[in-house]
Amino acid sequence: MQSFIEKMPKAELHVHLEGTLEPELSFALAAKNGVELAYKTPEALVAAYDFYDLPSFLAIYYAGMNVLVEEDDFYQLTYAYLTKARSQETLYAELFFDPQAHTSRGVSFDTVMIGIHQAQVDAEKNLGIKSQLIMCFLREMSAESAMQHLALAKPYRHWLVGVGLDSDERNNPPIKFAEVFAEAKEMGLKLTMHCDVNQQNTLVHIKQCIDDIQVDRIDHGVNSLESEALCDLIKDKKIGLTVCPVSNQFVVQSLTSDEIHQMLKKDMLVTINSDDPAYFRAYLNENLIELQKEGKFNQKQIVTLVGNAFKVAWLDNATQNGYLQQLQHYVSQYT
Ligand code: HPA
Ligand code: ZN
Repeated sequence: MQSFIEKMPKAELHVHLEGTLEPELSFALAAKNGVELAYKTPEALVAAYDFYDLPSFLAIYYAGMNVLVEEDDFYQLTYAYLTKARSQETLYAELFFDPQAHTSRGVSFDTVMIGIHQAQVDAEKNLGIKSQLIMCFLREMSAESAMQHLALAKPYRHWLVGVGLDSDERNNPPIKFAEVFAEAKEMGLKLTMHCDVNQQNTLVHIKQCIDDIQVDRIDHGVNSLESEALCDLIKDKKIGLTVCPVSNQFVVQSLTSDEIHQMLKKDMLVTINSDDPAYFRAYLNENLIELQKEGKFNQKQIVTLVGNAFKVAWLDNATQNGYLQQLQHYVSQYT
């Protein structure tokens, strides 16, 4: 099963580029940019990763970003992730990034955009991994700030496929950003939002995502299982759920394999993803392999999970079908 998963063509739909910053690159960039790190070695930095909920993770995640300063830093970050993903047979990735976490430190929006985009272009050409970009807004920041960043993105509209909402969900409901997301939809961008596991008012937030924002996907969204009506809505509207097992484990001490089984049983379009792989020490393969072990998923269920990611990816039908055929071909050769 491990080798079946490792060699399978895959798609990743929930990965934060800033969450792919490996300690070694962090140290190299810190030295180059004259940024001081609180730890002496990459190993000591990793040893200090201590997450037990969303805020405890976010504190470390934002502190880590200080080493990203120049255009080439964003290029290196993105190219390194795409190289790693391709080495795991991830053929397609949709990448989140958090521009406000950089502009708030004095890094220009253009620096971030151009560095990331150039790496995507080069990785597609050199490595054969396709990727698209999703601009996330930080939900503890104001709707005005989100709107300003959407305006900054207008000249780069065609470098983006969608917008998302991440960071601290507590007291920051989807509806706070209704106007920004309506404007993004006008621009032809796809919409997704985080509904992190076990957040306060999570069912209200999931309902707002669907009814008021009209999202195309939900990131995480595991708690939807607590409401049959929500599950039916998600299923009827074919809303993909990007679940991140290892990320969830830091909050709920389980890879949520039971919940993923339930979603499969209900024919919900659940997908498996890595979230912040450099911090959680698990890329897509490790997430799938650990999940399979915990939940004893059979081969067909793993193929459904991976196939769902291609199905709910923001791609045209022909490209999507091409990937699905590649997956089917792999499965038929393997079995
Ligand atoms: N949830 C919310 N915000 C985030 C996450 C997450 O899992 N990762 C990076 N920013
Ligand atoms: Zn996330």
